[in-house]
Amino acid sequence: SQESSLDLIIFGGAGDLAMRKLLPALYMAHLHRNLPAFTKVIAVGRHDFSDDDYINFVRRNTPAFVSEVNFDPLVWEEFLQTLSYVHLDVVEEGRFKALEEASRDKVERVFYLATAPSLFTTICEKLAASGLINSDSRVVLEKPLGRDLASAIAINDAVGAHFREDQIYRIDHYLGKETVQNLMVLRFGNSILEPLWRAPNITSVQITVAEDVGVGSRAGFYDGAGAMRDMVQNHLLQLLCIIAMEPPISLTPDAIRDEKLKVLRSLRRMSTEDIARDTVRGQYVQGAIGAEDVIGYLEEDGVPANSKTETFVALRAYIDTWRWAKVPFFLRTGKRMSRRSSRIVVEFANPPYNLFPGVAEGQTNRLIIELQPEEAIRLQIMAKEPGSGMQTRAVNLNLDLHSAFPQRRAEAYERLLIDVVRGRLTHFMRRDELEAAWEWIEPIINGWTDLCDDLHPYPAGSSGPSASAELMARDGFKWAD
Ligand code: BG6
Repeated sequence: SQESSLDLIIFGGAGDLAMRKLLPALYMAHLHRNLPAFTKVIAVGRHDFSDDDYINFVRRNTPAFVSEVNFDPLVWEEFLQTLSYVHLDVVEEGRFKALEEASRDKVERVFYLATAPSLFTTICEKLAASGLINSDSRVVLEKPLGRDLASAIAINDAVGAHFREDQIYRIDHYLGKETVQNLMVLRFGNSILEPLWRAPNITSVQITVAEDVGVGSRAGFYDGAGAMRDMVQNHLLQLLCIIAMEPPISLTPDAIRDEKLKVLRSLRRMSTEDIARDTVRGQYVQGAIGAEDVIGYLEEDGVPANSKTETFVALRAYIDTWRWAKVPFFLRTGKRMSRRSSRIVVEFANPPYNLFPGVAEGQTNRLIIELQPEEAIRLQIMAKEPGSGMQTRAVNLNLDLHSAFPQRRAEAYERLLIDVVRGRLTHFMRRDELEAAWEWIEPIINGWTDLCDDLHPYPAGSSGPSASAELMARDGFKWAD
């Protein structure tokens, strides 16, 4: 409860994620008084820091955040003073003695594992040996949760040996985004969409998560993963689940997660021929984002010169259910694309009989959901062009969610951390969901290896390789860019 005391223990507390996301999120939660009054944040790491060293380290490593508009330097300082640091080498120590001393008695504990997943087993075992886990404790797991089905199962088994499933919070930060949570309301809080939300009224769905950033300083991790593991396996499949799921019977975590699981389990497995025909892998080469020249993936720091890692994926998927039979779902994600833009486009069938002349190709009803950076819902409808004839043209009904709701939006990590603190599991992945996602993804990745699949180069700043446009054109569709 809010009154109780909470020790929030972050493994990887001096790491990149802690600096970029977790501490800023905790500060915001602190500012808005969304944490229990007696919360203690304990960062755990390998550096030999004192509390003061750590606080200075945080100050130095969160500059972008600190320059934000709503930032309050006094509250930030007050927040920093509540941080403490425990120096631990999780591999070397037999027990976590230093942590046993730092954590208070009779508190709720949340363990946030923001380390390499290879350490999860050891951390859980030693937390248990140190007597730090009790029935109220929770554990938060950061991605990547495995690199294939077997490793995902191994992580789940290892963590599951010490925590019940309802104590485990698997983070997919897309589920913490306001616009992603709004998808549920759009679908199930309105009655006008649901009767149409199926084949043959819907003819295709496209889901794009485009980024303009490159691999940045994460080549070490990214080159071993690639866009399929980094983005499709989690974020894009979760979006697909929310778009395709049946109405849940309630808003309880399991009711929702049961429906998502069904979607994942009905994804049609791809054969080798399907993989060759229906997937496109790309890698960015030198180009320009706006006015800025940028280097190609192979020139990035830490990327091997002969790397075959994909920084772009486009694919066509099918969900074999009554509702979605024969409806293609086009998924696409890439780094170094022309701009940052995540959107879902639901395309509706043409009228059964075309009464009006001159309807241009592709001018159909579409529901366009802009997830980020814009937050908008547009309904493309046909209208009469003014004039003497009966010429029609597609125009948009526009809902700008920023003007509708001008209030502050919490960042995904802030919302998710508050959910963890309050014990709300809805926006976290259940074990079977994670494993079902891998069951579908892994054969595709293996197929690429077997096929010695070619990487399609695309210039940084473009909308990806032309093969991705061709993938849609074959079925008579077009990416809405
Ligand atoms: C992360 C990926 O999960 O999501 C990153 O590991 C990616 O590679 C990031 O850049 C994108 O998140 P967002 O919130 O900026 O869309």
